[in-house]
Amino acid sequence: MTIYKARVPTNIAFLKYWGKSDEQTQWPANDSLSMTLDLYTETLASLSPIEETSHALSFRSDQDLAKSPLFLQKGLRHLKFLSENLGFEDALYLQTYNEFPSGCGIASSASGLASLTLAALAAWTGSSSFEELEEKGFARERLAHLARLGSGSACRSFWGGFVHWEKGLYPESQKTHPIFPETHWALRDCVVILSDAEKSMTSTDGHKLASTSPLFQPRLELLGERLLQMREALARCDMNTLGPLLEQEAIEMHELMATSNPPCVYMTQSTVSFLGLLARERMQTKIPMYFTLDAGPNVHVIYEEAYKEKVQDLFKDYKTIDVSIGSGPSLSLV
Ligand code: PMV
Repeated sequence: MTIYKARVPTNIAFLKYWGKSDEQTQWPANDSLSMTLDLYTETLASLSPIEETSHALSFRSDQDLAKSPLFLQKGLRHLKFLSENLGFEDALYLQTYNEFPSGCGIASSASGLASLTLAALAAWTGSSSFEELEEKGFARERLAHLARLGSGSACRSFWGGFVHWEKGLYPESQKTHPIFPETHWALRDCVVILSDAEKSMTSTDGHKLASTSPLFQPRLELLGERLLQMREALARCDMNTLGPLLEQEAIEMHELMATSNPPCVYMTQSTVSFLGLLARERMQTKIPMYFTLDAGPNVHVIYEEAYKEKVQDLFKDYKTIDVSIGSGPSLSLV
């Protein structure tokens, strides 16, 4: 039996995707920009060994099964969607494994859905490399597009380094592409886990509420300019410009969430306390480290590789996952 292994990284958004212009086509309300992380979901896929008509998806046995029933549901729905829309009839047998706790604000749905899509397409087409997939009509851009239909942010996980997901003028014209490779700027993300509980509202439900906030339209109007500023800061590897933009963007997304109707509040008291501590430590130590936030209570501290020991020492009393910028996905045979 041939088993295909897709290893796909998660990503942290610098410019956030929150809200959709069209739900059916997963058309985001705005462009977003992310850094790929060296933190992966691995999915193994093979054609089902027995005469099966439905797909089987499970977590590898050493993963806490109770953690993510929601992911399994979402994953199976996506597999069904892919097979129906692409005309692949073979049932698949898949096992997936996250290198990090699910549902804790580290975007496991991005790497999860992306690795599921990649592994499934590899098994259906019998491809063990991106080159083979491309020959069979599944270039990376198309794979990213298919993964996006399962979870928007998944499309940014198909490349390493810094990735721009362009909204385009209409749903079919959206594009995802790398803007700088991981070698351009050695940034790190120290994720401070303040809670590993499942989040209070899934991002799918959160996106639906975004447009109910009075901050939604004004935000869309200023994002074009912020995108340019972020791209320029990235081009110059300029932390003093990028850092404050990251923080402003993260806080704005959480304000938007909190002012939607009904409100969705992902930050906790520990988040707020930690943000205060980070600002104080930055002032005292002069380490250029800045936060961003995902749809959850945990804090992502973005900083340059040169400060690794200092940052790790500073947060040694917290539960952290400290990772470098990542080089993107891989596909192989087991
Ligand atoms: O891809 P989704 O539907 O899980 O939404 C992701 C939303 C954020 O993680 C909060 C922001 C982003 O751009 O990744």
